[in-house]
Amino acid sequence: MKVLIGSTPEDVAALAADSVLEGFERYVDNRPPVIGLATGSSPLGLYGQLAELVKAGKLDFSQATGFALDEYVGLPATHEQSYRQTLIREVCQVLGLPEENLHVPLGAADKLRTLETAAGHYDEAIAAAGGVDVQILGIGSNGHIGFNEPGTSLRSRTHLTRLTARTRNDNARFFGSPDQVPTHSVTQGLGTMLEARRLVLVATGRVKAEAIAAAIEGPLAASCPASVLQLHQDAVLVVDEAAATNLQHREYYDASAQALTF
Ligand code: GLP
Repeated sequence: MKVLIGSTPEDVAALAADSVLEGFERYVDNRPPVIGLATGSSPLGLYGQLAELVKAGKLDFSQATGFALDEYVGLPATHEQSYRQTLIREVCQVLGLPEENLHVPLGAADKLRTLETAAGHYDEAIAAAGGVDVQILGIGSNGHIGFNEPGTSLRSRTHLTRLTARTRNDNARFFGSPDQVPTHSVTQGLGTMLEARRLVLVATGRVKAEAIAAAIEGPLAASCPASVLQLHQDAVLVVDEAAATNLQHREYYDASAQALTF
């Protein structure tokens, strides 16, 4: 696990973009990349920086495939707050990733069984695309990643899940009031995410400080779903000073971020 601490949200976006680029350089050879996409405010600066790399000719998403982390249950796919529409606006149109190459878990169907079957097929679609090269992640204030709320199995696969009251409150800003936030979602599981070749998690602000400390330095435990990143072979966590507030091993992270010289 690599921990990078930026002074400002802008530094975080730039450091995270470098980590994404490095991931593609490391894992993608002469084929279009497969990117895992997160919604939320945290990765917006990162997407802006990736757009700059596209303009500079260092990245090309014109033939890339994207897999969303999650989707609300019950919103029509055309709803402006559905994660499909959010990712079309915030990622496809910004990075030039074709909408037809964007996969999002099915969140709208007449029958529960249809959603559960589609969730099972989502992992198969990721495998059929060759796996995710770089997965971008945010983190909820309660330590959730995707919509894997505290208590989720660390080996879970893409599944239908209930949202906690805290998450619905946190996301109420997009809907007007907490009651308008859907009660359920379909999310990639923690086991699904662990299969991505590189994970790049972005967090900014004091509101994320407890979750970040628990994810990086707390016990590996379902009570902080993001702590599962401790098991990943190539996870990079990029945070600002405010989100780093509660970290105990700051000296080690700062020293480790320096280039190795002999
Ligand atoms: C939602 C998403 C997560 C995201 C989290 C944090 O719950 N499902 O993928 O990481 O919000 O959002 P924000 O970055 O806006 O704080």
